[in-house]
Amino acid sequence: MDRFYERVEADEVLRPMYPEDLAPGKRHLALFFAQYWGAGDVYSSERGHPRLRMRHAGFPIDRGAALRWATHMAAAIRSMRFPSDVEHALLSYVSRFTPSMINRADDLVPDDDGLPQE
Ligand code: HEM
Repeated sequence: MDRFYERVEADEVLRPMYPEDLAPGKRHLALFFAQYWGAGDVYSSERGHPRLRMRHAGFPIDRGAALRWATHMAAAIRSMRFPSDVEHALLSYVSRFTPSMINRADDLVPDDDGLPQE
């Protein structure tokens, strides 16, 4: 999570979606992953039902943002040099669940200059 959050902190699209203080969210994400992978239910006892789509509804997540998020998470996972079966399991989990957080269509309408918006 430290490695993932370092990347989020440097990302100009994702950083503004996150609150000023990144520490509580980092802890919740770590607890969530731990719970998903079978290490007890601390996340649920602190945060209740995950309801992840609902919790993400207020953040403008289009495909571009989701791709950035998944790319940072994959880079963080790979940087850990886990055994390959562990790495594979984590990467497929991220790849499977990231698209379900998308809640905005891509902006395909060109700006006045006729070029796609940045
Ligand atoms: C698709 C791109 C995604 C974006 C842009 C995104 C963004 C965010 C943001 C801004 C927060 C709030 C952090 C805070 O309050 O400090 C958050 C919380 C969280 N996200 Fe995501 N997220 C994405 C995908 C995912 C995925 C794929 C998962 C899980 C598989 C996930 C799990 C969580 C969890 C567990 C929390 C904490 C919820 C809580 O408050 O208890 N997110 N996310």
